[in-house]
Amino acid sequence: MILKALDSLPRRRNKLWKLETVVDTESSSHPLWNTFQLDLEKVTNLEGLTEVRDSYLGRQRGLVALEMRKLGQFPPSERPEAGRVLNELKNAVLKALETRQTELKKRRDESRVREERIDTTLPGYNFKTGGIHPIRRVWREMEDIFVRMGYTVVVGPEIESDHYNFEALNIPKGHPARDDQDTLYINDTLLLRTHTSPVQIRTMEQHQPPLRIIAPGRVFRRDSVDATHSPMFHQMEGLVVDEGITLADLKGTLEVFFRELFSEETRVRLRPSYFPFVEPGAEVDISCIFCGGNGCRVCKRSGWIEVLGAGMVHPRVFSMVGYDSERYTGFAWGMGIDRIAILKYQVDDMRLLFENDIRFLSQF
Ligand code: PHE
Repeated sequence: MILKALDSLPRRRNKLWKLETVVDTESSSHPLWNTFQLDLEKVTNLEGLTEVRDSYLGRQRGLVALEMRKLGQFPPSERPEAGRVLNELKNAVLKALETRQTELKKRRDESRVREERIDTTLPGYNFKTGGIHPIRRVWREMEDIFVRMGYTVVVGPEIESDHYNFEALNIPKGHPARDDQDTLYINDTLLLRTHTSPVQIRTMEQHQPPLRIIAPGRVFRRDSVDATHSPMFHQMEGLVVDEGITLADLKGTLEVFFRELFSEETRVRLRPSYFPFVEPGAEVDISCIFCGGNGCRVCKRSGWIEVLGAGMVHPRVFSMVGYDSERYTGFAWGMGIDRIAILKYQVDDMRLLFENDIRFLSQF
């Protein structure tokens, strides 16, 4: 009931009445009206409109205000009429400004909408998605296989000391094995590691057996770039130390690994070789993954492909890290990750792996 009573009250009548008087006034007989209209016509934006408003309706210097001040100079009998005309002018100016403002705002909004319009029918941008580099791909795959066999992944520094890279691996100064690995020296004692074997030493210094680790990473040698060489490449080191580890464990481990990585048919063979930090040492071949061992261009008709160096950890290395070489034995191997990638993806030039040509990389 109360609400109804309120509703029936004529609301804001006063205000409405005032607005209507403004709305009703649309022109003026005052001479300023014509100049105002000309000025208003030239206005093209809201900033211009504000300028015109100020010059006519400004309280201090506005033309209408100036006219108001002149009213006193009129003879008293003419004053009411002059005042009325001036008021009419003022209202007409107000009304015209308001109309123009509405127009200009509308025009501004429309052009903004036009500018910001998004054409959803246009074809979208095609962003190229990245991929995983073939080296990183096999790296992960290799890691996965060893991790499933219970190995731990460890990393060592790329900048090594002469001690870890050579001395502790039974390669003293003047040893001919140093010449095999053209070393990039930083100074007398620091160098870029030439293999991942120093990680063997670092790990054994900090952990007691049993030990089962792989250590992947970058290695560096002073080689010039060609289809089979790069001054930076990748190796993965493997090291297992425990009581009763034999060469058979090494061979069995590698067989499991390569069968997993390539195929069930892959065979592994060890050829006697020499590395100062292992005894006996071996070079490890796998049966050619392309011809199955019959002989082809890749295996140079031999049926075998050399893939890594390995051996039983030298007792002198064990004593260097304080392991009891009477109690423990172990095997170690070092594999070229890039070489595996080249075989796996049948890349015929190693440079392709490092040039990062998008046409090559996008094939993976
Ligand atoms: N570090 C040797 C190389 O880079 C490979 C290797 C590692 C050999 C472990 C035997 C044992 O050639």
